[in-house]
Amino acid sequence: MPLVFVSGALLGGVVERLRESFDVVQDDEGVASEAFARAAGDVEAVLSLVTDRIDGALLARAPRLRIVANVAVGYDNVDVAACAARGIHVTNTPDVLTEATADVAFGLLLAAARRIAEGDRLVRNGGFERWSPTFMLGAAVHGATLGIVGMGRIGRAVARRARGFGMHVLYTQRSRLPEPLERALGCTYVASLDELLAWADAVSIHCPLNADTRHLFDAERLGRMKRGAVLVNTARGPIVDEAALAHALEHGPLFAAGLDVYEDEPRVHPALLARENVVLAPHVGSAEPATRAAMARVAAENVLRVLAGEAPLTPVR
Ligand code: DGY
Repeated sequence: MPLVFVSGALLGGVVERLRESFDVVQDDEGVASEAFARAAGDVEAVLSLVTDRIDGALLARAPRLRIVANVAVGYDNVDVAACAARGIHVTNTPDVLTEATADVAFGLLLAAARRIAEGDRLVRNGGFERWSPTFMLGAAVHGATLGIVGMGRIGRAVARRARGFGMHVLYTQRSRLPEPLERALGCTYVASLDELLAWADAVSIHCPLNADTRHLFDAERLGRMKRGAVLVNTARGPIVDEAALAHALEHGPLFAAGLDVYEDEPRVHPALLARENVVLAPHVGSAEPATRAAMARVAAENVLRVLAGEAPLTPVR
């Protein structure tokens, strides 16, 4: 039977399902584990997590590998070009985590703008002495302008939530959406990121991490944001320069930020940890049971198909 390596404890009963057809090695330490090192020479499929680095060195140890099924929509942890050169399929898990991730993005926006996490800390520390008209003033969400960077599935799901909050929605990405879709989402295209930053009271990042988007939000870009703006990142940490973000949160122009992802996870820049005006979530965008089970099932389905000689369901293009 073909050997399949499963990284981490996947939900959805997928390990049991895979065991019906394959020899399965599973290890919570992922491809860095001893178990993977022992299995590498024979492994034909890997169900990988965002914490697994699938690079040329790993591929060289796995001559029989036919598919890397990443249990995530993002796949910047996989060297897709190196896989393609070897004819190895790479798949991801789009669609199934869209709404869950959009919920967290919107939650971070609300929490950062209205100082909810900071207020929680203050109450617990005995700092809530009395209500006053000037106490804990935050940034408005209702009626504000939201700029969405990357209007793919998750960006659109955030746009729908924003409309429910009476926000004006701008978006930018390489190509404009068809007009009927723009109308349905109630959003307006702006051709450049700088133009979006000039207008947006809040910005939510939903683009993939690649060579073009690494440090897209550097000191210069952050400096161009509106005074009092809020930045939300649920995409990938390295899109934002964390040191520059901490500076923009301390000296302006940013009012607050909400982050679910970090440049060097699980490490968080100490200058961010020291700030009250940033909400820090531990990469939980897709962390609800039904979503995580659905992600695992999509990955397993891709493995079943490829090892049966069929095309995968959700190939990375
Ligand atoms: C993804 O799917 O890319 C997420 O970051 C993992 O939850």
